[in-house]
Amino acid sequence: MSERFTDVESVREGLKNVDYLADDGLASIVYLADRLEKPILVEGPAGTGKTQLAKSVAEMIGARLIRLQCYEGLDESKALYEWNYKKQLLRIQSEQNADWDTIEDDIFSDEFLLTRPLLEAITAEDPVVLLIDEVDRVEVETEALLLEILSDYQVSIPELGTIESKQIPLVFLTSNNTRELSEALKRRALYMYLDYPELEREREIVLTKVPDISQNLADQVARIVRSVRQLDLRKAPSVSETIDWARTLVLLGVEHVDAETATETANILLKYRSDIEKATKEFATTEDTFDV
Ligand SMILES: Nc1ncnc2c1ncn2[C@@H]1O[C@H](COP(=O)(O)OP(=O)(O)OP(=O)(O)O)[C@@H](O)[C@H]1O
Ligand SMILES: [Mg+2]
Repeated sequence: MSERFTDVESVREGLKNVDYLADDGLASIVYLADRLEKPILVEGPAGTGKTQLAKSVAEMIGARLIRLQCYEGLDESKALYEWNYKKQLLRIQSEQNADWDTIEDDIFSDEFLLTRPLLEAITAEDPVVLLIDEVDRVEVETEALLLEILSDYQVSIPELGTIESKQIPLVFLTSNNTRELSEALKRRALYMYLDYPELEREREIVLTKVPDISQNLADQVARIVRSVRQLDLRKAPSVSETIDWARTLVLLGVEHVDAETATETANILLKYRSDIEKATKEFATTEDTFDV
């Protein structure tokens, strides 16, 4: 059993020290994943801190982050390993007099193996955090490549045998929920839905990430973004957009947001013209709710 953390609170504190603000639910999952030696699957809307969670956990424990960015068409040779054909060919040519069995043993050895992120994480000697990012982008058949790693922390290579991990890495999978993931994959991981943060936590995130912002402005920003998210939008503002908006307001020297300022800067928060129009209308009628 691995014991990187003493308790849930120490996870929350540790993450806070690297500027990631987790609520107790999220901190518990990270704590449990370590104790149960299970991967974490984090699902949720864009920009809610899924990728950042893995990065921040790596930073917190001083581990190297190994990232497998998923995309349509990702295959074994990019995710797991690939044989270095060129090098193998050269070796075959240089060993023309040797018998085939000897050559075969030679060219299917470590020396000719090109490790890709998953194998890299398994064979690492130093502490690592493995991030399998946006796993919903690969075809469902490709998910099968991940199953052996996720349940047994090992990789089977036909020519070499099974390579077991020297340590159990912390593994994070993220998904934007563009399609259902397979049952097989879900079963192997602890599941966490990461939604937009609560008002108080988003305010804290803004205070942490935006230097020189006042308590009052951070509070207004969190409050207004929250009400904007309740509109029927094509793309609700994410935490990154909240931070961008807060930075913009500070740069512009704004100390207090009114409907006019909100309207003038709405393009930082929203990325569709129709969304901006909806928000602008809302700002005009709800200005009095911008403050507590
Ligand atoms: N809890 C948090 N504490 C601190 N910063 C946060 C938190 N949540 C989000 N952020 C900020 O929001 C930014 C965006 O987060 P991130 O890139 O992890 O989102 P994501 O969920 O992976 O989005 P996508 O689905 O688009 O990949 C981060 O770089 C970070 O600055
Ligand atoms: Mg991400």
